[in-house]
Amino acid sequence: MTPFPERVFSGMQPTGNLHLGNYLGAMINWVKMQATHECIYCVVDLHAITIKHDPATLVGDIRELTAAYLACGLDPQKSIIFNQSQVSQHAELAWIFNCIARLGWLNRMTQFKEKAGKDREKASTGLFVYPNLMAADILAYKATHVPVGEDQKQHLELSRDIAQKFNNDFAASIADHGYGEAYFPLPEPMITGPATRVMSLRDGQAKMSKSDASDNSRINMTDDADAIAQKFRKARTDPEPLPSEPGGLEERPEADNLVGIYAALAGTSKESVLKEFGGAQFSVFKPALSELAVEKLAPIGAEMRRLQADASYIDAVLGDGAERASALARPVLDGAKDVLGLLRTRK
Ligand code: AMP
Ligand code: TRP
Repeated sequence: MTPFPERVFSGMQPTGNLHLGNYLGAMINWVKMQATHECIYCVVDLHAITIKHDPATLVGDIRELTAAYLACGLDPQKSIIFNQSQVSQHAELAWIFNCIARLGWLNRMTQFKEKAGKDREKASTGLFVYPNLMAADILAYKATHVPVGEDQKQHLELSRDIAQKFNNDFAASIADHGYGEAYFPLPEPMITGPATRVMSLRDGQAKMSKSDASDNSRINMTDDADAIAQKFRKARTDPEPLPSEPGGLEERPEADNLVGIYAALAGTSKESVLKEFGGAQFSVFKPALSELAVEKLAPIGAEMRRLQADASYIDAVLGDGAERASALARPVLDGAKDVLGLLRTRK
C-alpha cells in the first residue's frame, strides 16, 4: 500500500471521573508520542452525547478534560488539542462511514452490548454507530497510529475494516483521482506499557471505570493525597506476600493489578518491581505504592485545578486547535467526496 506519513490521533470522552486507568492506559503514551510524532488529541464530545448526558455540566466536563490533557503534559504548541464538535468534518465523515460499515460488523461490538445493557431497543442509534464516528475521528486526518487502552482494540479493528473497505470498493475512483492505491491508511492501535488494562481496586476482574458506582474502585486524577492513600489501603488483596517474579502473579488478579500500577507509575517493568518487593507483605507494599502515586499524581491534580480556574485560556487552546484541525481535515473530506462521486461546486 502507498505509504502514509506517520501521524498520531487519539481521544477521550468528556464524561467526568478521569482516573488512573485513563492516565496509565492512554495519556502517558500520548505525552511520549509528542517527542517523535505529529500528534492530534481530541476531546470527543460528540461521543459523550451517545448516552444520556446533562447539558448543564457538559461544558465543564469538556474544559476539565482539556485541563487534564494539559496538566499531564500535552503541549498545545507541539500538538493539536481540540474538541470534536467544533470540527464538523468528524460528523460528516461519520455519515460516509455509516454507508461503508456493515450492520453485522457493528452487531459484534462488545462495548455497545455493555453500554446498551438489557434494553437494547432503548439505546440511541448514535451509541450503535459510535465506532463509525471513532473511525471518522482518526481517518479525517489519515492518522496512522492510535495510542489507546486495551478496551479500544475492537473499535480500532473496525476502523481498519472501514478504511480497507473504502479503499477496495472505490479503488478505481481512488486511482482516477490520483490518490494511488489507497485513500485511507489502515490505522495501527498502539497498546503499550505495563498497565494497558488497569483493574478496579475493589474487584480484580473488573476494569477501573468512570462509571463504577463505587468511588473507592478508582483513583481519580483529582484525588488528594489522603484519598489516594485511603483507597490503596482499602484495595482488595489476597493474604499472600508478593512473589519475586511476574509468573507468581498468575491467578492473583488484585496483586497483579497493584504491581502493574506501581511499574507504570515508576516507569519500569513488573519484573523490576518484584525484584524490589518480592516477599513483602501488602502492609509494606501498599504504603510505598501510595507514596509513589501521590508523588506522580498530586502535581497533575494541582495543575488541573490551576488551569480550570482560567476558562478563557482553555477555550483559547481549544479554539486554536479546532482551526488547525479543520485545516487538516477539510482537504481529506473534499477528497473523499470526489472519490465517492459527489459534486462539489462551492469554493
Ligand atoms: P474512556 O474512559 O472510556 O473514555 O477511555 C479513555 C482512554 O482510556 C481509552 O484509550 C481507554 O482505552 C483508556 N482506558 C479507560 N479505562 C482504562 C483502564 N481501566 N485501563 C487502561 N486503559 C483504560
Ligand atoms: N472510543 C474511545 C473511548 O471510549 C474514545 C475515542 C473516540 C477515540 N474517538 C477516538 C480514541 C479516536 C482513539 C481514537 O475511549
